[in-house]
Amino acid sequence: MLTRNNTTKMQQHIYDTKQQVAEAFSKYLAEFIASRPIVHLALSGGSTPKIVFDELTTHYAEAIDWEKVHLYWGDERCVPPSDDDSNYKMTVAHLISKIDIPDENIHRIKGENDPQEEAQRYSKVLQTKLPNGATDIPQFDLVILGMGDDGHTASIFPHEIALWNADANCVVAVHPNSGQKRVSITGKVINASEAVAFLVTGEGKTEKVQEIINKTEGFEKYPASLVAPDSENLHWFLDAAAAKGITSDRV
Ligand code: 6PG
Repeated sequence: MLTRNNTTKMQQHIYDTKQQVAEAFSKYLAEFIASRPIVHLALSGGSTPKIVFDELTTHYAEAIDWEKVHLYWGDERCVPPSDDDSNYKMTVAHLISKIDIPDENIHRIKGENDPQEEAQRYSKVLQTKLPNGATDIPQFDLVILGMGDDGHTASIFPHEIALWNADANCVVAVHPNSGQKRVSITGKVINASEAVAFLVTGEGKTEKVQEIINKTEGFEKYPASLVAPDSENLHWFLDAAAAKGITSDRV
């Protein structure tokens, strides 16, 4: 395992395998939750969180006081909660159905609603449920993010990178290949979070991780490169496959 403080105010936690990433992040999350009276946590979708949720429910289901955890989503596909594409459905299967968390602590994005109306509704949910300090921007305690092979994060994709700077807390995005609509939180909400943790694993991420962390020419075109929380509390949890292109002088 390798942890280093990168000059771009991030901590890189690199492990040999995806499973070790899941184990390390689960430990980090359990300690994070234990250190706070209440935790507003934004989850990501995709395949990587499944392994983390399985690790959490296997080893931390009883250890974590889920009553103080409020679950939100950083993005959701505009499909019903019963749809196999639903991030909520995946989270119920791998996490929520296996932990003792009050129903009122679950704040899902309603993928079945009209996308624009749901983006507005969820923007209001975040504005009312989350603390917002002096900035009037809803502040999560922790936002968990993945990164797509194309460098997207949450559901802000490179072809719509301007959505990152939207004034709204949530926007409607469109997947570049499938055309599927998504509701996503925006850059201002992500960067207002007390902490941000990227979970990035697999060969498919190597190139973009290399470009973003090494700041190679044009790296700013990837939304994931724009994640820079004001708190400077940014953690990249990576496996060796995703991290192999990081030059060691980025310490
Ligand atoms: C989604 C996610 C998305 C995901 C990345 C990485 O709804 O698809 O929120 O941003 O995190 O696509 O996905 P993997 O973990 O499957 O690589």
